[in-house]
Amino acid sequence: MAKITIDNITIDVPDGTTILQAARKIGGKVVPPAMCYYSKLKGSGGKCRTCLVKVAQSCTKDPRPMPKLVASCSTPVQDGMVVQNLTSPEVIDARKGIVEFLLLNHPLDCPVCDQAGECDLQDLSFGFGMEETATVEERREFPMTDIGEYIKLHINRCILCYRCVYTASQLTDQRLLGVLYRGDVSEIGTFIKNSIANDFSGNMIDVCPVGALTDKTFRFKSRVWFLKPMNAHRECARCSGKVAAWMSGNEIYRITGRKDEFGELEEFICNECRFEKKDLYDWIIEGPRHIKKKSVISANHYEKMEKPSVISPIEEKMLPPDQL
Ligand code: SF4
Ligand code: FES
Repeated sequence: MAKITIDNITIDVPDGTTILQAARKIGGKVVPPAMCYYSKLKGSGGKCRTCLVKVAQSCTKDPRPMPKLVASCSTPVQDGMVVQNLTSPEVIDARKGIVEFLLLNHPLDCPVCDQAGECDLQDLSFGFGMEETATVEERREFPMTDIGEYIKLHINRCILCYRCVYTASQLTDQRLLGVLYRGDVSEIGTFIKNSIANDFSGNMIDVCPVGALTDKTFRFKSRVWFLKPMNAHRECARCSGKVAAWMSGNEIYRITGRKDEFGELEEFICNECRFEKKDLYDWIIEGPRHIKKKSVISANHYEKMEKPSVISPIEEKMLPPDQL
């Protein structure tokens, strides 16, 4: 076990734990943001630098600070390590620089982007972004492409975090998606414009931290803050069938996987559940999902269970007449 102190909070964690995982055990504001690390995807992390922290003391045996800020998602803890996240002005400064860097090519099209309201980069910009950019260069521009029947790829918004690449290669046995070319011409693409047609490709949409991969069955249908996310499930032969159903009244606008407090999917869901089951009768609605208070989606969001009225007439018909 190793004892680690992050922003003045001390915790014991097993050896081999990364600083980010230790911070997640503590929770709250101590947790550094992560745009590329994804605990369920092997090899993820180390690409975006948003999780940089300051190691003020390396370990008990060597109390010297580490000379540079380190990526918390890929740095293992050591016994006696002291880490600063929000308590270090150097980290705050670096994070502002990272946001500016990520926005060098990312368009500021949140008003028309389907990811708005649940975008990690939007949240990060809100916390650490500057009012003005220092750059005058034009942003990179790519045509929009379709990846298979259900997914739209908008490379202009991509921050090259590789999450979708790992999802595509780790959930199936074929490697179909990758980063093509190098340097400032790098782009996410399918090999010679192959489309991705496998049962779990829709999960790439959920792992994308920005709006580069969007659900064609939901694009421009509504804004997420007008919808109510409900836990729902169905019998499914391919996945657990446990999803979040985004509803307005009795209508299901979109289906996504259920995300945990760190924005990661609890379970990957299949394309049939995600794209083809939009009828209320397809699902058993369990109740409203918990939404963080600071999220824009929490506006007018009540967590009291309200069964959709379409379900109740069947039950009402089955009640004995004296109870009707
Ligand atoms: S498309 Fe999204 S998930 Fe894929 S690399 Fe770009 S930002 Fe990451
Ligand atoms: S989350 Fe650590 S580098 Fe991206």
